Amino acid sequence: MESALLAWYVEHGRDLPWRRTRDPYAILVSEVMLQQTQVGRVVPRWQAWLERWPTVEALAAAPLAEVIRAWQGLGYNRRAVSLHRAAARVAAGGWPDDLSELPGVGRYTADAVSAFAWGRNVLPVDTNVRRVLERTAGRFGSAAAQALFDLGATVCLARVPRCGICPLAQGCPSRGSRFEPLRKQTPFAGSFRERRARALRSVAVGPTRLGELDEEAVGALARDGLVRVDGEVVSLPA
Ligand code: ADE
Repeated sequence: MESALLAWYVEHGRDLPWRRTRDPYAILVSEVMLQQTQVGRVVPRWQAWLERWPTVEALAAAPLAEVIRAWQGLGYNRRAVSLHRAAARVAAGGWPDDLSELPGVGRYTADAVSAFAWGRNVLPVDTNVRRVLERTAGRFGSAAAQALFDLGATVCLARVPRCGICPLAQGCPSRGSRFEPLRKQTPFAGSFRERRARALRSVAVGPTRLGELDEEAVGALARDGLVRVDGEVVSLPA
């Protein structure tokens, strides 16, 4: 099964810029961005990020306010704070053996960096990969990881898989099935996430009076370290 998948990947795999590096920092940035943001939106942002902060030391030395500003538009802004803290830890003490000790780095992201930067034979399992594994009942090593991402994103789709063009269809126990997937993200419009994003956008322009902002949203942002509240004035953390 794995060889059919790898042959398919040579022909149909996506050419994504983070696949051309083995720098753990560059890969960590890509994986944190990809946790909750689509590939097409991540590509230009990842490139700009690495031009601005090419090393983990450069990111660690950056003011947090700048890091938060640079994250704007990627969503789930807490990731910017975690990434900055992770960079500070690595800059000070090197890469830990278990990457999941780093802020914002769970099992999936730790495994992805281990596999893509250091060539460790662990298969990072995200939502797409898990779906392909469950449907095919296949067993794959880390060499198949990028191919599994692409198969999950373009062929083995959540609801209506394109079994007619799938390299794993032969012998796939789920071939021809249809699925009712769970929604992975709740709608943004009208959500508390949207209120947080709007408040953060105001504060990112410059210090803002609390009275002009959505106070509940500001409270949540402050708890996540995304803003500081100093009396009546809300600003980005230094
Ligand atoms: N999703 C998570 N990691 C990815 C990667 N390295 N390439 C494409 N999609 C991904």
